[in-house]
Amino acid sequence: METVRLPRVMQDTAIKERCRGKSIGLVPTMGALHDGHMALIRAAREENDIAVVSIFVNPTQFAAGEDFEKYPRDIGGDVEKIRELADVLFLPDVSALYPEGHSTSVDVEGLSGLMCGAFRPGHFRGVATVVLKLFNIIQPTRAYFGLKDYQQTAVVRRLVKDLHLPVDVVLCPTVREADGLAMSSRNAYLAPEERKAAPVLYRALAAGADAIKQGEKNASRVREIMREVLAREPLVKEVDYISAYDPETLQELENVEKSGVLLAGGVKIGAARLIDNLVFNGLQ
Ligand code: PAF
Repeated sequence: METVRLPRVMQDTAIKERCRGKSIGLVPTMGALHDGHMALIRAAREENDIAVVSIFVNPTQFAAGEDFEKYPRDIGGDVEKIRELADVLFLPDVSALYPEGHSTSVDVEGLSGLMCGAFRPGHFRGVATVVLKLFNIIQPTRAYFGLKDYQQTAVVRRLVKDLHLPVDVVLCPTVREADGLAMSSRNAYLAPEERKAAPVLYRALAAGADAIKQGEKNASRVREIMREVLAREPLVKEVDYISAYDPETLQELENVEKSGVLLAGGVKIGAARLIDNLVFNGLQ
């Protein structure tokens, strides 16, 4: 595996490979790689001639007061994990991706202000901007994203569609711990007792899903059922949101149908902000 730090070098290599007819699979990450990332990297490896993993803790997607400084970083461990799978590790520093005077960003309006976006102003602008940069630099044929960050996948799909980007966005299922907790680099923030409590978010979503499967059509009732499960866990400090949404528009639903409903939530447990979702549209 080759490590490339400079955008221009990465871009030259990528353009040459694409001109030679090679396909490039990109897995954009912020590092601290876990089994969820590894599933994306294996898919990129299997489906493309060249697998590129980017590791970049993107400052613009963290609001002031969020966890940019203490976001888990483990480049040594990450390199060990991907060395046999990836062909290229793209590892830029902040000044390479945001050169002095940087003043261009991209906003996916509408979708970015809902769900997580209502609690993390500017987050999805940062995500969309860095993803567009990575696509321009790495020229991927396919880019791989985990469905755990469902809203991010919706924003990226919209970005690709609206700006006619020549990239196939490939969505991969959420990878879970044995007790249901969705894998996330931020799970590292959980103290042992909080880690035990954390699967409550998955259990709340699963309770909502069961109610729908048993015929519940009233979204307020589904919301109540999910909130009741969360309320029974005292270590849940705050519930940012938990509800039923349209999987495409991310608008909150009044009525739920078995095909085409996204149950999603974001909660705070200790220092960790956890998100998770279940979607009934054949993707999960
Ligand atoms: O999902 C992530 O790790 C990040 O949001 C991404 C897509 C790498 C952009 O910084």
